[in-house]
Amino acid sequence: MGKDMALDTSMATKVVLQSYPEGNLRTSDFAVEQFPVPKVPDGSFLVRNTFVSVDPMLRIFIDKKPLGSSAMPSLPLGTVIPGAAVGEIIESKHPDYKAGDIVEGRFGWQSHAVSAGQGVVRVPQSLGGQENALGIGGLPGFTAYIGLNVAGGVKPGQTILVSGAAGAVGSAVGALVKARGGRVVGIAGGAEKMRYLRETVGYDAVIDRNAPDFAGQLAAAAPEGVHVYFDNVGGPMMAQVAPFMAYGGLILISGLMAQYQDASAGSQTDSLPAVLFAVMGKGVRIQGFSQYGQDALRPGFEQEISELLALGAIKPEVHIVEGIENLPQAQVNLFEKSTTGKVVVKVA
Ligand SMILES: NC(=O)c1ccc[n+]([C@@H]2O[C@H](COP(=O)([O-])OP(=O)(O)OC[C@H]3O[C@@H](n4cnc5c(N)ncnc54)[C@H](OP(=O)(O)O)[C@@H]3O)[C@@H](O)[C@H]2O)c1
Repeated sequence: MGKDMALDTSMATKVVLQSYPEGNLRTSDFAVEQFPVPKVPDGSFLVRNTFVSVDPMLRIFIDKKPLGSSAMPSLPLGTVIPGAAVGEIIESKHPDYKAGDIVEGRFGWQSHAVSAGQGVVRVPQSLGGQENALGIGGLPGFTAYIGLNVAGGVKPGQTILVSGAAGAVGSAVGALVKARGGRVVGIAGGAEKMRYLRETVGYDAVIDRNAPDFAGQLAAAAPEGVHVYFDNVGGPMMAQVAPFMAYGGLILISGLMAQYQDASAGSQTDSLPAVLFAVMGKGVRIQGFSQYGQDALRPGFEQEISELLALGAIKPEVHIVEGIENLPQAQVNLFEKSTTGKVVVKVA
């Protein structure tokens, strides 16, 4: 290799916010830039990212009005996209971390990041490949675990319904419910995803969200009603599901995928009456949750996932996109041509 072709190890790559997305996300909302590998201050470490995550929720964090209002400041243009990543520490001036440690954190869409350790978790080898630290053993898997915990666990005789079931969170919910002996019904778009849910994840029944007889399919799949609706998408589907809730059921708001690109999605019909009738008539509760403040659940989560992986009871599906420069397209694809399982981008 000629000298000018040699890899310049003093330079790093990052993906920054170039413009605030309006409506549907475009790859031109991002820019790929080079920058010098940062120096490590005392009390910090330098991580070289191996895999970086694309996540639907990043869409709201890069909006000019995050969470649909001006209450939260918008991310300044030119800032690195604050995605989750996993990688190896290559230099450390932090008392608790050493070079060679494999860690996961909000290291951002970049090849190298300096961190003081806040929000960082060590990745146990029992989770398998590093990419699993962004899927079943990371944010999506932990979301599934926390949500089921908030719902009071998996109970015999109950039906848990999951929207966005073929995605990273939904497939983790299905795998956990089945591993714990529960009954789980998924909602997904299209035959391929429905087959994946039945044959690979082990869902008991699957409903096509685009089917004209969606309500009939739901009634057949949950004859005694839905005890927990693990909702990953929000939007107008909640009003379609609400009438099928069991008495005393729980609508668990995990995410609002259908509303991230368009906060008023489905507003041409008012979905609230159907939801309120279920709340009043069936004693249904609606509850949201997030990862914040849930660190105490982390050890139990890692243990359960590690055991299920070792037993082969969970077979995580991860799609690896090659090249950090492909992060913007991979993020756009989450909304436009989503696949099954978890999508990560390999840095180098
Ligand atoms: N609460 C928390 O702490 C937390 C943490 C992480 C993620 N989340 C949330 O969990 C949700 C799922 O995340 P993920 O990582 O699993 O995403 P993902 O892998 O991209 O999967 C999302 C799924 O949603 C479905 N979907 C997309 N648009 C939809 C629409 N308009 N209506 C109905 N379904 C739609 C897609 O499947 P089909 O198109 O085939 O139906 C896709 O499989 C997101 O809302 C995310 O923000 C919450």
